[in-house]
Amino acid sequence: MSKLVNPHGGNGLKALLVPSVERAEECARAQGLKKVPMTSREISDVLMMAMGAYTPLDGFMGREDWHRVCLEMKLKNNVFWPIPITLSTDNKLADSIHVEEEVALVDGESGEILAIMEVTEKYVADKALECEQVYRTTDAAHPGVRKVLEQGEINLAGRVSCLSEGTYPEQYPELYIRPAAARAMFQANGWSSVAAFQTRNPMQRAHEHLVKIAIEVTDGVFIHQVLGKLKAGDIPAGVRTEAIQAMIDNYFVPGTVIQAGYPIEMRYAGPREALLHALIRQNYGCSHLIVGRDHAGVGDYYGPFDAHHIFDTLWDGALETRALKIDITFFCNKCYGMATGKTCPHSDADRIHISGTEQRAMLASGADVPIEFSRPEVVEILRKYYASALSAS
Ligand code: ADX
Repeated sequence: MSKLVNPHGGNGLKALLVPSVERAEECARAQGLKKVPMTSREISDVLMMAMGAYTPLDGFMGREDWHRVCLEMKLKNNVFWPIPITLSTDNKLADSIHVEEEVALVDGESGEILAIMEVTEKYVADKALECEQVYRTTDAAHPGVRKVLEQGEINLAGRVSCLSEGTYPEQYPELYIRPAAARAMFQANGWSSVAAFQTRNPMQRAHEHLVKIAIEVTDGVFIHQVLGKLKAGDIPAGVRTEAIQAMIDNYFVPGTVIQAGYPIEMRYAGPREALLHALIRQNYGCSHLIVGRDHAGVGDYYGPFDAHHIFDTLWDGALETRALKIDITFFCNKCYGMATGKTCPHSDADRIHISGTEQRAMLASGADVPIEFSRPEVVEILRKYYASALSAS
């Protein structure tokens, strides 16, 4: 019997990828269906469904699910869900599709067929309501809000059968670990309490400290990074992976962490996204999600600990996976070591803070990055990346 947390919803993992023996036939059938183009975010959602990371969803949400998720963080069957997972299209294409029709969901850029959906509903979603409830702002300068505002006017809902996992499995053969495989790895390691560390950055010492705090109180940590599309200025996944590996090889006890990645595209929805991250990690078998300062935030739309507080609003039984809430982490010159807002009594002036922008400038100009901020093995990899990015531009 597994000692890991149960997949969300209580009925086992639901991976929507069609079994490989049936895929060729289904792909051929899909060729004859009307094609609905998807944005990169919608594609990432289909890939999440394919691998079972969005258990218990069986497709894109209908109006009632969308509405209740926005207002109450619940699906219509009362199961907890914090962010709408929807597919949209323009009026013209929506008008040409009738309810109960099967359509092919395709990559809007390459045209590749990724899934078949049986359309059960067409509806108009109130974008302002969605943004206000989920993102806490309707400001189009927020990258997640902008994507909602740019969506087509009509949402299409229905059950999805996935036909492809895109290029991820070949591109990241070691990192692309599906929920069922992660659970098997944890069990093989004898882990029952597992903390997930969500990240979209190469690991600095602050990140290292967060992970090490989690290692102290769990059986192991799943360093789980975003492989989906990021915003301009974020470090590409290949470079980040290499930097994280350098950190693991040089500064972690072997066997205490597993590095992996998953195909989600960030929404930057701060607290609501922290909840989605926890739900996904429950499907992966993680009992905890590390939630630090401004988790999944962007700009200053969210307070630094809003993502901590939102976990306190959940009702009993909403989620099994818990937040491992950790205060801001940094190197303090007076403590002469890594510390957190909870453990260091000194002032800001004693703490080393370097923003992402400052670090990028240091790396690009060849200036030294303090060893208290970043491990030299990580700096070297980032420096090479910035040198080649600069010479290419
Ligand atoms: S994100 O998906 O949450 O945006 P990011 O890589 O920026 O990914 O952060 C990963 C995790 O580390 C998040 O839980 C975030 O709150 C936490 N974090 C990053 N830097 C710090 C810090 N200096 N102090 C505390 N937590 C931090």
